[in-house]
Amino acid sequence: MKIPSSFLVAAVAANIHFVIPEVSAQAEKFVPNYDEAKIPDYVLPDPLEGVGSADDWAKKRAEIFRLIEREMFGKAPRYSGEKIAFAEDIPSFEILDGRARVSQPLLTIAGQDVRVLMIQPANVSAISAVPAIIGYNFGGNHTVISDPRIALGTVWGRGGEGERKAEDAERGKSASRWAVERIVDAGFALVTIYYGDVDPDFDDGFKNGIFAQFPAPKPDEWGSIAGWAWGLSRVLDFLEQNDRGIDAKRVAVFGHSRLGKTSLWAGASDPRFALVISNDSGCGGAALSKRAIGETVGRINTVFPHWFCDNFQRYNDNEAAMTFDAHMLLALIAPRPLYVASAEEDQWADPHGEFLACVAADPVYRLLGTDGLPQKEMPKVNEPIQGTIGYHIRTGKHDVTDFDWQQYLQFAAKHLASGAGK
Ligand code: GCU
Repeated sequence: MKIPSSFLVAAVAANIHFVIPEVSAQAEKFVPNYDEAKIPDYVLPDPLEGVGSADDWAKKRAEIFRLIEREMFGKAPRYSGEKIAFAEDIPSFEILDGRARVSQPLLTIAGQDVRVLMIQPANVSAISAVPAIIGYNFGGNHTVISDPRIALGTVWGRGGEGERKAEDAERGKSASRWAVERIVDAGFALVTIYYGDVDPDFDDGFKNGIFAQFPAPKPDEWGSIAGWAWGLSRVLDFLEQNDRGIDAKRVAVFGHSRLGKTSLWAGASDPRFALVISNDSGCGGAALSKRAIGETVGRINTVFPHWFCDNFQRYNDNEAAMTFDAHMLLALIAPRPLYVASAEEDQWADPHGEFLACVAADPVYRLLGTDGLPQKEMPKVNEPIQGTIGYHIRTGKHDVTDFDWQQYLQFAAKHLASGAGK
């Protein structure tokens, strides 16, 4: 695909505001390649090497998991299974003309106050539990829907500016990214959390958020993405431990961008997530790192040194040394349904590489008895393909749109229909 240079300048500039000041000079030197012809020769490791039958997969999967955990995301503390404490300090209320009920339990997770926003179909009989979509939001729960009853919490700047109180003016600011009405009308609950409640997103040497309760991570121990994924598992514990009208066996984990990297790792590290959705997750998510097109391992580790474990730095400008790649991350989710989505103008996230990772994960899905990914050729824009792996590339930029949600809900409804959860 030929990309106009004006677009490239804009695409790179669009990322500059995420850059923390100290590393910006270094990062600005980075010139991304967007030319497929300049991709280095690479061979993807075969996730099925040494695997003769589906019975061999559990052992192989454990090896791949340990490899990606040690070299990329880092080990999170094993959870001891205690009950998640919570307070119901805000009364629930109805929205959408009574079609949905909103509750906002305040969880304590590793010493942190984590406010959960739950929006679920109302008028569901007391004995039936609905499937849910769980995912982090970037800006605070108050940005997801515009309603004065949503608690205003603390939000953190991403450049280390510190914390501040969320503001009324920000209410509903991200509503276009959360098709709340569509989700509820499809019979799903939405469970969302501000990711900064779990770990503020800047490189502070792991002194705040849930990390404050644990010793500083060693080179093979968790970075922020593994921390956020761990937080999602604790919210799932809460859903499992309490009767909230949600079927904890039918919870899909969703995330966009860095939070799409997070949803993939949450799905890989916690098999209780019944379905996984990665929206524009790019480098360190669904995109193959060995292609080194758009954002690269060196660039991401320079600008966001806290996201992955320190071992991942070994692969800066050295993707050839990786004995794993994104297709193996995706394969860890098999045979559970997985949806990967890209956006045409999001070349920074390498849409083609996101698709190729699905293609390379497909043999694992098929070995495990599913229909995997329906085709090996990249589909045209706005033409979703949906097997047990779903994929689409839509027109437009790096974002979450109503079109994305239409596909996710169709896919989730098919795979998480009553009784479909395992
Ligand atoms: C930056 C970063 C990406 C990330 C994105 C986001 O663009 O380079 O890796 O996905 O921020 O999370 O918004």
